[in-house]
Amino acid sequence: MLPYAEPYKIKMVERIYRSTEKERKQWIKEAKYNLFKLKSSQVYIDLLTDSGTGAMSDKQWAAMMTGDESYAGASSYYKLKNTVKKIFGFDYFLPTHQGRAAENVLFSTIIKEGDIIPGNSHFDTTKGHIEFRKAKAVDCTTDEAFDTSSDFPFKGNIDLNKLENTLKKYPKEKIPLIIVTITNNSSGGQPVSLQNMKEVKKLAEKYDIPVFFDSARFAENAYFIKIREEKYKNKTIKEIVKEMFSYADGMTMSSKKDAIVNMGGFIAMKSKELFKKASVYNIMYEGFITYGGLSGRDMNAIAQGLEENTEFETLEARIKQVEYLGIKLIEAGIPVQRPIGGHAVFIDAKKFLPQIKKEEYIAQTVAVELYIVGGIRGVEIGTVLADRDPVTGKNRYPKLELVRLAIPRRTYTNSHMDYVAAVCKKIFDTRHEAKRGLKITFEAPIMRHFTAEFEKIK
Ligand SMILES: Cc1ncc(COP(=O)(O)O)c(C=O)c1O
Repeated sequence: MLPYAEPYKIKMVERIYRSTEKERKQWIKEAKYNLFKLKSSQVYIDLLTDSGTGAMSDKQWAAMMTGDESYAGASSYYKLKNTVKKIFGFDYFLPTHQGRAAENVLFSTIIKEGDIIPGNSHFDTTKGHIEFRKAKAVDCTTDEAFDTSSDFPFKGNIDLNKLENTLKKYPKEKIPLIIVTITNNSSGGQPVSLQNMKEVKKLAEKYDIPVFFDSARFAENAYFIKIREEKYKNKTIKEIVKEMFSYADGMTMSSKKDAIVNMGGFIAMKSKELFKKASVYNIMYEGFITYGGLSGRDMNAIAQGLEENTEFETLEARIKQVEYLGIKLIEAGIPVQRPIGGHAVFIDAKKFLPQIKKEEYIAQTVAVELYIVGGIRGVEIGTVLADRDPVTGKNRYPKLELVRLAIPRRTYTNSHMDYVAAVCKKIFDTRHEAKRGLKITFEAPIMRHFTAEFEKIK
C-alpha cells in the first residue's frame, strides 16, 4: 500500500524563530513560568491551542474578499445562517465573536443562581460561565475517560447512570440544560458515540430537559464515529453530523476549531422562543443579530470552513497528523491518553513525573520543561486549570493531570511533529532528575490558568 499523504499543498509560509535554551530559560522566568505570558516570538512550535491557529484554505481567503459588511441583513449573515441550517439542521442562529461569547449569551438567557448543569467534563470557559452565575456543573463523564491506558473508543461519553442520578436528584426547574461537549476536550479530545448522544437525548426527554452540544470539534467527533462506530462506517461525515445534531435542541460553537477560522462562534437552536430571548443578550453583548461581533468576511470564512471541514479527506489529514505524533510518543514509552484524541496529544503528567507532589502542579512542571528544552508551548490541563472550589477555596485536584499538545489544523508539518516527539523523549529519558515542581505566587479568583504566576521550588 502507498503511504498516506495530505490532500493539499502549501501556498504561503511564515518564518518562525528557533531560540536557544539559554534564551528560553530567561524568557520563561520573566513570564513567571506561565506559558500564556510568553510572546509568540519566543515560541518555536506553538501547541498551546488548536483554537484560531489553523491555516485557512485558498477558498476561505477568497470568501473573505466577498464579505458583506452591512450592519443589518448582510448577505454574509444569510450565507452562514443557510450553511448552519444545511449542516446542523437548526432554524435559528446567532453569530457571536467566539465560543465563550456564545456561552455567555445562552447562559445569560437560561441559567440562574443555584441551577445544576450536567455534562461531560465541561470545558473551562463553560464551567467558568456556569460558576460565575453561581450555578453548578456536574460532571457525568464515563469512568473509562480517567484511565489513560484504556483504549475505550468513546471516552467522551456521558455515563447514563450518573446523568440519570443527577436528573432525579433535582427538580426540573433547576436543570436548564444538559451540555454534551463534542469532542470532549478536557478528557483528552475524546469522542462521544452517536449511540450515547441518542441515549442522552432519550433520557433528557424523559425528564423534559433540553440538550445542547458544545460543538467546537463536532467534525472531528463525526470522523471518529465513522471510523469507530460500525453502523456509521458507510455514512458521509455530513450525514453523521446531521444525525448527531438531530439529538440536540441547540448548540454553542467556537468556530475557531472545526470551522478553521481565526475568530468566530455562534449559537444555533430549534426553539424560536429561546432565539428571541437570546437575541436580546446577543445585541447587548455581541452586536446586532446579523453580525454578532463578527465582520461579514469572517462569517463567509466560517461558512466555507464548515463545508470543507465536514469532508472526510480534510478530517483524515488532520487526525492522522495528531495520531502520527501520538504514536511517536507511545513508541518512546511516554504515557499519553489513549486512544489518541482528535485535536491533541495529552501527556499523563502523573505517570511522567510520579515523584512530584500534586501540590506542586505536576502538569505545569512538565509543560515548562517542554518549553525550556525545545521551545514547545503546550498547556496544562490539570490542577491549575481546575481552579479552586468556589465554596471551600481549596485546590480541586482533578483525576487527571495532563499536558495538552494541541495541533493547529494544516499549520505544521510532520517534521515538526518529529521534533516535538524528540524533545518529549529527551525530557522523559532524564525525568528522574526532576525533584520539585512549582508554587503559585499569584492567581485570579476564576480561570486562574491564564494569568497565574509561579516560582520554581528549589
Ligand atoms: C470544548 C470547548 N468549548 C468552548 C470553548 C471556548 O471557545 P472560545 O475559545 O472560542 O471562546 C473551547 C475553547 O477552547 C472549547 O475547547
